[in-house]
Amino acid sequence: MKKWLIEELICPQCLDSEVVLNPDIHTETDDDIIEGRLVCPQCRQGYEIHEGIAVVVPEQTLPIVRDETGYNSFSMRSAYLWSHYSEFFNGPDATDAYGKWARAFDSQRSGWALDIGCSVGRLTFEMTRTHDRAVGLDTSISFVRAARRLAAQKRLAFDLIMEGQITEKRACDLDPAFGFDQAEFIVADAMALPFRSRRFTTVSSVNILEKVPDPLRHLAEANRVMDEKDAKFLFSDPFSWDENVNDPALWLGGTKEGPFKGFGMDNICRLLQDPESLFSPGFTIQDMGQVLWKIRKTRNLWEHITSQFVVAERNKI
Ligand SMILES: C[S@@+](CC[C@H](N)C(=O)[O-])C[C@H]1O[C@@H](n2cnc3c(N)ncnc32)[C@H](O)[C@@H]1O
Repeated sequence: MKKWLIEELICPQCLDSEVVLNPDIHTETDDDIIEGRLVCPQCRQGYEIHEGIAVVVPEQTLPIVRDETGYNSFSMRSAYLWSHYSEFFNGPDATDAYGKWARAFDSQRSGWALDIGCSVGRLTFEMTRTHDRAVGLDTSISFVRAARRLAAQKRLAFDLIMEGQITEKRACDLDPAFGFDQAEFIVADAMALPFRSRRFTTVSSVNILEKVPDPLRHLAEANRVMDEKDAKFLFSDPFSWDENVNDPALWLGGTKEGPFKGFGMDNICRLLQDPESLFSPGFTIQDMGQVLWKIRKTRNLWEHITSQFVVAERNKI
């Protein structure tokens, strides 16, 4: 974990008191902590740093982090590396979805950016073009490891699944304009962000809302870490609610009754603009639309997804 991140991390189990974590470094380089722990002086919980990867999640999130299926699986890594970087190795049918989302970050902003649910890091790298620093976080160790390797090597090399266990090598350089040293990736939970309040000038939540157990809590956490006076928020989601993932009583759309009845994007826009809601002070909507996004599972299996996005800004007072 890059040392510049140490002072920003707080205990995800003591969010109300914003307790800064104390580093206990075992192995390090000039810039990085390779092995060690981050310890909360209040609850005494220790958060491991192993092979450079910091895992800063509440105890109840650890089973997800340790689960070797789902987003930690080999097949998901192949799928998401293709999805994020196929433009760079000229993959046939490459998707330009991330370039489209990245247009939200086309103006220079001083300050830090946060990519919540970063997967293998493409949007985080895009954020480094226009921000001083960018942090990506995800509950998948496999994704965070892949993103950190990309940042260290400044290039991509991986095994792309053709069919079953048959793979082919893919390798390419990435955009040299990415600020690889300005990016860092950690394992953290979108519902308990281990960062001081108001730390970020820009936050993204792309294709994660429908995946978390409590979507409203995720939005409240995103709001907590955004600057109160000058913040930009990129939100995008396909709103493919699934009762196997989260309780319909907690969905923010897709129901016929309740406080979030109707379509998810309408409800998100309402929340963003209502200064009495969890987004306080309220946001102004700058742009809306949809991004056609693709995930490639094998050479014959693709998911084509429409993700609805909104870019919102909280103006200077
Ligand atoms: C559908 S993928 C989208 C990834 C990426 N934002 C993109 O659009 O390519 C959802 C991501 O959210 C991550 N995720 C799921 N639950 C999470 C949580 N509670 N906290 C942080 N990340 C989570 C998954 O590991 C996965 O990388």
